Amino acid sequence: MNEEQRRDGEQAVNPSDKKSAKDYSQYFETVYTPPSLKDAKKRGKEEVAYHHDFKIDERFKEMGNGRSFYIRTYGCQMNAHDTEVMAGIFMALGYNAVETPEEADVILLNTCAIRENAENKVFGEIGFLKHLKRDNPNLLLGVCGCMSQEESVVNKILKSYPHVDMIFGTHNIHRLPEILNEAYLSKEMVVEVWSKEGDVIENLPKVRKGNIKAWVNIMYGCDKFCTYCIVPYTRGKERSRRPEEIIQEVRQLAAQGYQEVMLLGQNVNAYGKDFSDMEYRLGDLMDEIRQIGIPRVRFTTSHPRDFDDHLIEVLAKGGNLMDHIHLPVQSGSTDVLKIMARKYTREQFLELVRKIKTAMPDVALTTDIIVGYPNETEEQFEETMSLYREVGFEMAYTYIYSPREGTPAAKMNDNVPMDVKKDRLQRLNALVNELSAESMKRYKGQIVDVLIEGESKKNPDVLAGYTSKNKLVNVKAPKSAIGKIIPVKIIETKSWSMDGEAVETQTMAGVN
Ligand code: 5AD
Ligand code: SF4
Repeated sequence: MNEEQRRDGEQAVNPSDKKSAKDYSQYFETVYTPPSLKDAKKRGKEEVAYHHDFKIDERFKEMGNGRSFYIRTYGCQMNAHDTEVMAGIFMALGYNAVETPEEADVILLNTCAIRENAENKVFGEIGFLKHLKRDNPNLLLGVCGCMSQEESVVNKILKSYPHVDMIFGTHNIHRLPEILNEAYLSKEMVVEVWSKEGDVIENLPKVRKGNIKAWVNIMYGCDKFCTYCIVPYTRGKERSRRPEEIIQEVRQLAAQGYQEVMLLGQNVNAYGKDFSDMEYRLGDLMDEIRQIGIPRVRFTTSHPRDFDDHLIEVLAKGGNLMDHIHLPVQSGSTDVLKIMARKYTREQFLELVRKIKTAMPDVALTTDIIVGYPNETEEQFEETMSLYREVGFEMAYTYIYSPREGTPAAKMNDNVPMDVKKDRLQRLNALVNELSAESMKRYKGQIVDVLIEGESKKNPDVLAGYTSKNKLVNVKAPKSAIGKIIPVKIIETKSWSMDGEAVETQTMAGVN
């Protein structure tokens, strides 16, 4: 069968059903809805609608029979969790999961738009996958995730990558069955990207990666509009899931034996701000989750601006709430923070850190930093370096500023040459390394609890896991320790990890 016939519907919903595409026209809902950054910027006053009625339409139930899927994920944990949802939908449609794109009948690239190099990687991959389409004309290739929310990306794909079959956005994931159906039937590239703020859809199927740690969305979107960031455009307005839905999901995960949940949102400290019927914020949610019998609870990502006293008070209760907070500061200069529209000063950030450390003296703080912001001076950069040391961050993700089309910062003139930006990144990374190594050294000879996740990537004879402060430990322990939290004696420390041995305790004897 050639490409044309396939697109005409011979391989459509039900492969044995030989209707023409015209006969399927009743099923066509949207074939071409391109994104609009202008619409994505709008924030409506309408209440968020909650949908509990997701189910796979009867007519799509056979769609995946004899077919397989592969999803490649780029970017953050939110994206990785979206992949779990899409995998759940594929499985519900009867598709098989495969390990390589070569084996797949549908390939999805779940993309990240946060920096230009993330986008370049995806374009490289789309180009590379063309040869698979030549070998297998029945293959469907789709692009989803944050990049598909950008007009410039969709236009570039339409113009230069016609072998892509479908593009759909972050608000359209639940429409995957309809989008696939249209892609099987349509001659054109299927583009369905809603730019309007999405609703909250519950009960989507999920296939979780692993059975030790689980991601749980608590909210979607971001209303902060930091001047450099594309996320408020690609992920829409802030929408919180109802607490009862989240608590039920965490309870289920605990019952299934998961050891850790990571609560996810682009700005989790804004959790609950959008509830019009109650005053219920992240601190309240954490206080309830604290009482669920799941050993470890974490959350990401925080915005310092909304980090309130009640949350600090609850986190200080400890228990299953981990003593690690990822708190992106972005810059140590009040002037740069102002241009970034972060809405706090260096002093306010330091005051927040002081409050957190007073309540939780042993807390580990980590952060995100952008260097080389438009017109950042050497003095302003030095302020970032001094703040880093003053706070005593134990780890940081560091980035050179990358202009994103459509954001206010992309229109700013920039007098900082790239070699200066690179030099600043190097100097900052040296400091990050130094403080990370120092934070590890403190553990030498101590016994720490480690959640063992599996074999070490570098050495399969050793297991690897994380401490409550999220520090990587390579552990000599029996394989039966995988999935358990065990006491480990730290023998050696490095810049980014530690080496240790399982402590022979009664529990370990049981484990053996
Ligand atoms: N350029 C560089 N880094 C960025 N980040 C977000 N947008 C940009 C950008 N345009 C960084 C921030 C954020 C992290 C997820 O990515 O530090 O916290
Ligand atoms: Fe990338 Fe941000 Fe989108 Fe995550 S939310 S996929 S980090 S752009």
